[in-house]
Amino acid sequence: MAEYLTPKELERELRERSPESDRLIESLHNCDRRHFLEVTAKFAAMAAAAGVIQPHGFQLVNVAYAATTPGEAPDVAFRFAYVSDSHLFSRGMNHRFARAALKAVQDVNALDPQPDFVLFGGDLAQLGRADELALGQQILKELKAPVKMMVGEHDWYLDMGVKWREMFGPDHYSFDHKGVHFITLNSVVEKDFWSAKSYTPEERMNIVAGLDDGRQSRFEVGEAQRDWLRQDLAKIDKKTPVVVFSHSPLYKYYEPWNFWTADAEQVQALLFPFHSVTVIHGHTHQLLTNRIRNISFHGMLSTAWPWPYAPTGLPAVTLQMDRPDPFDQFDGCGDGTVDVLKNGQANANYNPWDRNPMSVTYAQLVTGIKGGGPSY
Ligand SMILES: [Fe+2]
Ligand SMILES: [Fe+2]
Repeated sequence: MAEYLTPKELERELRERSPESDRLIESLHNCDRRHFLEVTAKFAAMAAAAGVIQPHGFQLVNVAYAATTPGEAPDVAFRFAYVSDSHLFSRGMNHRFARAALKAVQDVNALDPQPDFVLFGGDLAQLGRADELALGQQILKELKAPVKMMVGEHDWYLDMGVKWREMFGPDHYSFDHKGVHFITLNSVVEKDFWSAKSYTPEERMNIVAGLDDGRQSRFEVGEAQRDWLRQDLAKIDKKTPVVVFSHSPLYKYYEPWNFWTADAEQVQALLFPFHSVTVIHGHTHQLLTNRIRNISFHGMLSTAWPWPYAPTGLPAVTLQMDRPDPFDQFDGCGDGTVDVLKNGQANANYNPWDRNPMSVTYAQLVTGIKGGGPSY
């Protein structure tokens, strides 16, 4: 029996159609808000009938949070939530992943108090198609809190980000929020591997979408964006807390799967002078933690599927999530929140569906995470 869903198994599962799910997904296109909410409710009922909703909800994250930081949580300055890696397929193919993205939206909307904003961590679409991105936009529009968008490679390589930027704006930008400087990067820039081989846009997209397709380049932030980052950071006091959003991890984890940013050291060098830096990334679809000098790194869960841990290169401080159950659609998937503390550091709160929530706190990270008291 396979330990994880391999890409081929995943593809096979995607072909298994539920006529009711497909019909509902079809009707989501260009529907009004009232119908959207009706469809959402039907999905919830279908999921409950199928027994896929477990007695773990986002509320439990708050319980755990309250248990670890009693009282008024005096250390927390503010909280943002994340939804990431939804990999929505075009209509007719996407019932499982659309349902999962809807579940994440419901989770975040149920948070009380609401987060200051929601980060979408990239890979909204599976193959960068306009209808996939439109479906994702429609789902994310239902979030009550403001949304900050980040691009992933699955969104980008069909048309080199044209549609994504038209819908969501610049692929890299910065903003300030409650004394913290936030930076969103496009870390999935690849060197041109397609022109010389005359690959079509679809071929290029399919190659990039393959986890271990050796024909593509390694991801990088690239010189142009590093120059922009240098100029952006030049205006910021070194004591100002910095939080960076990147799709790929801004370190070198496992090259064959592009769990990797080729110019990570150069980007890190720009961040080393700052007192407090946290990087929140998507792409790896797993609970993942790293710390390099002053920089803490937290991976986001995916709503679509969990990737296994890479055979080598796993950061020593990562507390490994148990192997996902290949027969449980939601196991190993999820969403989460990040608490930005008054000292500028951050705690990552994971809400893995069908499992107990857990937090990777800054205090655990700097004092030795293995003793951190995980709930797995
Ligand atoms: Fe992804
Ligand atoms: Fe990705």
